[in-house]
Amino acid sequence: MGNVFVLDHPLIQHKLTHIRDIETGTKEFRELVDEVAGLMAFEITRDLPLEEVTIQTPVAEAKMKVIAGKKLGLVPILRAGLGMVDGILKLIPAAKVGHVGLYRDPETLLPVEYYVKLPSDVEERDFIVIDPMLATGGSAAAAITSLKNRGAKNIKLMCLVAAPEGIDLIHRDHPEVDIYLAALDEKLNDHGYIVPGLGDAGDRLFGTK
Ligand code: PRP
Ligand code: URA
Repeated sequence: MGNVFVLDHPLIQHKLTHIRDIETGTKEFRELVDEVAGLMAFEITRDLPLEEVTIQTPVAEAKMKVIAGKKLGLVPILRAGLGMVDGILKLIPAAKVGHVGLYRDPETLLPVEYYVKLPSDVEERDFIVIDPMLATGGSAAAAITSLKNRGAKNIKLMCLVAAPEGIDLIHRDHPEVDIYLAALDEKLNDHGYIVPGLGDAGDRLFGTK
């Protein structure tokens, strides 16, 4: 079964509290999501392979480590996943970015896919699927299926806030996928919103409500 990592670093927890706060407006919300995504990227890249290179410092020749040219792909789920991309790209600027467009039908809560565009060398890349919210898990599970159908083999999932229901669905449908979170919340409400959560991530990011 894939692991669930809750990245409870004090900086992440502090910023997430402000993200959740209803008093936080769009500008600050966007900035904080960007910052937390960057902090999470620090941890999610912990297992990147290193290789040894020889360099010359001003003092001596030395064998040192650099990242071993791993091909990475970020896949934000539209819309809200977009808010986390730049924060991660600041740390991993060479990553390619694919997009999966999904919205959740408000009646059935089931995901509806409307767009997919991935890097052409999908089979050679390790992917991080990005979405602030893992609620029922339907959107993330569908995005991961979409990637797998196009040849992706190594996929991680990165979300800000999850409900237990979403974790269960990913474990059921994609048991090999590791999940990285800033917080694991209590439950879903009757409308499929995470409690306490942060509300509608897309609307808060883009100011559409
Ligand atoms: C939100 C969120 C996730 C999805 C999570 O997107 O960004 O993609 O809901 O819910 P789930 O785990 O139950 O599938 P939404 O459908 O509101 O689309 P939007 O980002 O375009 O607003
Ligand atoms: N989508 C959101 O944006 N928020 C939730 O709490 C659940 C789904």
